[in-house]
Amino acid sequence: MPLSRKPVGFAPPPIDEDTIIAVERVLRSGWITSGPELAAFEAEISDFIKVPMASCFSSWTSACELALRWFGVGPGDEVIIPAMTYAATANIVLHCGAIPVMVDVTLDDRVASLEALQSALTANTKVVMPVDLGGWPVDYQGICEWLCSEHVKRIFQPASQNQRALARPLFLADAAHSFGAVYRGRRVGNHADITGFSFHAVKNLTTAEGGALAFNLPAQFDLTELQRWFKSMSLHGQSRNALEKTTSGRWQYDVADAGFKCNMTDIQAAMGRVQLRKYPTQLERRRHVAMLYDAGFKGHEWYAAPPLESPERTSSFHLFQLRITGFQSKQRDAVMFALKERGIATNVHFIPLPLLSLHKNRGESMDPYPNTARLFNESLSLPIHLQLSDDDVHWIISEVILAIEAEL
Ligand SMILES: Cc1ncc(COP(=O)(O)O)c(C=O)c1O
Repeated sequence: MPLSRKPVGFAPPPIDEDTIIAVERVLRSGWITSGPELAAFEAEISDFIKVPMASCFSSWTSACELALRWFGVGPGDEVIIPAMTYAATANIVLHCGAIPVMVDVTLDDRVASLEALQSALTANTKVVMPVDLGGWPVDYQGICEWLCSEHVKRIFQPASQNQRALARPLFLADAAHSFGAVYRGRRVGNHADITGFSFHAVKNLTTAEGGALAFNLPAQFDLTELQRWFKSMSLHGQSRNALEKTTSGRWQYDVADAGFKCNMTDIQAAMGRVQLRKYPTQLERRRHVAMLYDAGFKGHEWYAAPPLESPERTSSFHLFQLRITGFQSKQRDAVMFALKERGIATNVHFIPLPLLSLHKNRGESMDPYPNTARLFNESLSLPIHLQLSDDDVHWIISEVILAIEAEL
């Protein structure tokens, strides 16, 4: 059957003329890797979130792995994460030789609750890394208060200099989805010790690939030293970056640690800077689309709304993760197929970690994670992006309702 409308993509990148002009300017500038654009982007991110420091890297993955390594996470250490997340959250833990300890999520807000995180704490816990799924902030205040409690401090067994300085597990937030989300009046990035954002091609704000860390560590950690460590470790542990070497006349450098190669380029930063200027307006548009979806599905018995707004939290509206109560994954897949036939791209977030061979082979099963299992069977992420008109959204709503009701 011919399509009656133009197909709708799932998450096309918001690349406009201004972005193209900014990238062209960098390409013509004579300096294309980490340099002045990156420094400006980092300053603008810290100003947007209102944190003392933000640093950019080649991805969320490289940024957060660096954070684990900075904290000295290694073999035998445990990092608490939700079972419902993308593979990267667990992979970086495994890269360090440590153990990802999974917890279930709640069905209503689809993130790990404070109670679930608490139940997984042991003397080996070094990091707590919950995920703001779809852009919905976890209970940041509850988690911070818990991690700073005397009980947790007593259990904690520090084994590195930074662990001794913090004297409790690190709160590293997987905020890959929640750039711009708000928790208790302050943007995500202001609450955990270190918060990792993703600027991957499908994210709200994209640098094609990229990520950032927002630092909010207690006063015993010196910002200049933190900056020096993270920047140097993103450049093979070099004591001086390429721009400094070129412009300062001091070409010599040292390498004290075997670092990684995961810096962000000025080309990427230029893309990010243009989008960041427009981001508050873009967040409003995403909110509008999410509210149209919510109003369109409300009243249908099968509809379980994603968390979008509450008096203490506002999503970044990264995903509109519809939950179809009572569905099995086969029915959801049939709906996806029917929508694809009509020209509407959808997605599923995510295949739970214990269903992936990597984790099955580590002995994981879905038994301890009933909510995650149900969320997987029932969820369907709908397109949410800046190219959608209100009319597109109304059309998607009617097609989704038709496709779901054909499967009931
Ligand atoms: C929850 C979550 N964490 C981490 C990542 C990894 O981000 P990146 O691709 O920037 O490394 C993603 C990417 O989609 C994600 O969805």
